[in-house]
Amino acid sequence: MRITVIGTGYVGLVTGASLAYLGHQAVCVDVNEEKIKLLKSGVMPLWEPGLESMIRDVELQGRLDYSTDVSASVPVSDAVFLTLGTPSSESGEVDLSALWSVVRSIAPMLHRDTLLIIKSTVPAGTCEQIEAYLHQQFPASASIAVAHNPEFLRQGSAVRDFLAPDRLVFGASRPEAHHRLEEIYAAIQSPVIKCGLREAELIKCASNAFLAMKISYANMMSDLCDALGISVDAVAEGMGLDRRIGSEFLRAGAGYGGSCFPKDLRALIALAAKEHLDMELLKATEAINRQRVQVICRRLEGIFGSLEDKQITIYGLAFKPNTDDTREAPALRISSMLQEAGARIRAYDPVVAGLPDRQVDVDTDMYEAADGSDCVVIVTDWDQFNRLDWGRLRQVMRSPYIFDARNMLDIAVMTENCKRYGLHYMSLGRPSIAPDVPLTID
Ligand SMILES: NC(=O)c1ccc[n+]([C@@H]2O[C@H](COP(=O)([O-])OP(=O)(O)OC[C@H]3O[C@@H](n4cnc5c(N)ncnc54)[C@H](O)[C@@H]3O)[C@@H](O)[C@H]2O)c1
Repeated sequence: MRITVIGTGYVGLVTGASLAYLGHQAVCVDVNEEKIKLLKSGVMPLWEPGLESMIRDVELQGRLDYSTDVSASVPVSDAVFLTLGTPSSESGEVDLSALWSVVRSIAPMLHRDTLLIIKSTVPAGTCEQIEAYLHQQFPASASIAVAHNPEFLRQGSAVRDFLAPDRLVFGASRPEAHHRLEEIYAAIQSPVIKCGLREAELIKCASNAFLAMKISYANMMSDLCDALGISVDAVAEGMGLDRRIGSEFLRAGAGYGGSCFPKDLRALIALAAKEHLDMELLKATEAINRQRVQVICRRLEGIFGSLEDKQITIYGLAFKPNTDDTREAPALRISSMLQEAGARIRAYDPVVAGLPDRQVDVDTDMYEAADGSDCVVIVTDWDQFNRLDWGRLRQVMRSPYIFDARNMLDIAVMTENCKRYGLHYMSLGRPSIAPDVPLTID
């Protein structure tokens, strides 16, 4: 099938490349000329494991192209995917301006047999409005069908998630649209939910909100465990083995971030408010997540008293490992709050090279970033932090504090490291480990 994907960001590029990999002829379109120029010259505009090699393969087979111009590919496409960003507006509602501007501009180019597939995450009701708009504005094209096919990929494992999803959701008001989606995804083995447009829209937001709620629940429990002096690890393991609960998203830490969970939660709260419903559970989820940054900063103030002139090193800037995406990343809020309290911030991230508009020195070497530091705070759980040379790290640091704000390090291993190198290890909802030697703060 000939497919155009409009909006070549994290979702659009993975969608275009994966559909080409499945045998379709795909064109990825974006308004960002620089991005399209990079892609055409073989440079990846974003970092996502496995994506570059898949792109090289499908490019060689002539199945993936890039463009800034919708008019060349849309009129000859069997399906057009819209993967535009749908960020939060000031009020918490979703800003659909990019999506609508593209719908308006491509509407005259769509032909009777094109399926317009909205993949962006949108509030329930949006796709019906788009379908109604197409029918009202262009009676000649009244048979153009609109579908919603929400995307559940996770950055960091996006290619695998796209090609082997837990489920595919096909929302449409007409059977022929469901059928076209089945053809597009024929090569993927996965359960399929065929439903209406609004149901598909809500499945996506409700799923993200539920996962965010699970994270906040784990964080709430970790605060209680801290107060009781017990380990949240055992509590989470004991809960997670119950199949009705499941173990994923139960690890306490610095909270969720990224371009999806925060805005999808806000969008659901705003959508429900229009229906005079108060999503109290989701509001509590947000509040707990916001407090994580304060919990971490308070713990640091508890050690040092004042953070004035203390040097804190942040390990991990992206909102999760295996991505370079720093949208709504907890590391940004933590570094701002620590700076406000007087601390100097240095940072290291395996793939984020810098933070525009922020006074944070980002080093390319993790030991250099910790040079002269009073505390290293792990904010993103990159696997490489499991393999740190703790002796070397202690040598370059001014004070011996390690704050694992993702609970990623093994307590037994860190107990040994604390003994051996005189480190002081802290995490969330787990007892701290002090070295055998008395601590001094320089
Ligand atoms: N990032 C994720 O992990 C993820 C996962 C599932 C769903 N989603 C949803 O998918 C959608 C896209 O998310 P994303 O993270 O890929 O966004 P993104 O910001 O990375 O990409 C959006 C792209 O659209 C382009 N664009 C903007 N206006 C345009 C226009 N008029 N014409 C053509 N291109 C235009 C931008 O230049 C950008 O490259 C959102 O609705 C998001 O909620 C994201």
